Amino acid sequence: MLGKGAPELPKLNAFNRVSQVIPVMSGKGGVGKSSVTAMLAANLARRGQKVGILDADITGPSIPKLFGLPAGGLRGSEQGMLPAVTGGGIRVVSTNLLLRDEAQAVVWRGPMISATIRQFWTDTLWGKLDTLLVDLPPGTSDAALGVLQNLPVTGVVLVTTPQDLAALVVRKAIQMIRQLNIPILGVVENMSYFRCPETQHEHAIFGPSHADVLAQEAGAPVAARLPIDPQIAALCDAGQAESIELEAIQPVVDLLLQPA
Ligand SMILES: Nc1ncnc2c1ncn2[C@@H]1O[C@H](COP(=O)(O)OP(=O)(O)OP(=O)(O)O)[C@@H](O)[C@H]1O
Ligand SMILES: [Mg+2]
Repeated sequence: MLGKGAPELPKLNAFNRVSQVIPVMSGKGGVGKSSVTAMLAANLARRGQKVGILDADITGPSIPKLFGLPAGGLRGSEQGMLPAVTGGGIRVVSTNLLLRDEAQAVVWRGPMISATIRQFWTDTLWGKLDTLLVDLPPGTSDAALGVLQNLPVTGVVLVTTPQDLAALVVRKAIQMIRQLNIPILGVVENMSYFRCPETQHEHAIFGPSHADVLAQEAGAPVAARLPIDPQIAALCDAGQAESIELEAIQPVVDLLLQPA
C-alpha cells in the first residue's frame, strides 16, 4: 500500500536551491518520456531557466545519450557529486555517467535502485535550479513510487501515445499519482499524428486520440499533442536533442514557466 501521511523527505544538499521538481511519467514504455524530458529541458534552458535532469531510469538510462554526454562524466567534490553539463547548460545526473562504458549493464534490485535515486537527489550539487526534470522508467514501479514519495514533487507531466494499451496503463499511473495527492500538470500525447509533408494532411498512425478522456481522468489539461517526426528520432539518436525545434511542445514549456 502507499504510505499514509507525509513522510519526512530526504534533505537536499545544503548548497542546492531547486524551485520546482517535475517528474515525467508514463504508463507504457517507449512512449517518448525521455525525448519529451530532453526537449522540455532544452526549451526551458533556451528561455533562460537553469535546468537539471535527474535520470531516474537507473537500469535503462537514456538521457546522456540524447545529449551526447559520454560515460564517466560525473565528478566528485567535497560538497557532493557534480552533474555533467550539456552544451546548452543543462545539468544531468544519470547512472550512465557513472559507468566507464555506456553499454555496461546495471543489474541491481529495487532497493538499490531506490537508494541510488535518493542519492542523486541528496548528494548532487545541483546548485540553484529553476526546474529539475525527473525522467522516470515506465510504469508504476518502485522507482516511480520512490521519486513521488521521496522528492518534493511540484507536479507530474504525463506522457502517453494514442494506442489503447498506452491509455490502459497510463490510468494506473494516474491512480498512483492521485493516491499520493500529487498534482498532474498536464497530459502530453506524443506520436499523436503524422503530418504528410506533401499534403499537410494529418494521419492518426497509432489510432484515434485518447488524450481528452485521459486528461479528464487526470483532472489536468491536454498540454500538447506532438507529431511523429522522424527528425526527432534522428536528432535524439545523434545526441543532438538540444537542437530539436518543435513548436507543438511550447504549451508544455509555458506550463512549466508559470510560477507554481
Ligand atoms: N514524436 C516523436 N517522433 C518520432 N520519434 C519519436 C518521437 N518521440 C520519441 N521518438 C522516438 O521513440 C523512441 C522512444 O522514445 P523514448 O526513449 O523517449 O521513450 P521512453 O518513453 O523514454 O522509453 P522508455 O520507456 O524505454 O524509457 C526513441 O527512439 C525516440 O527517438
Ligand atoms: Mg526513457
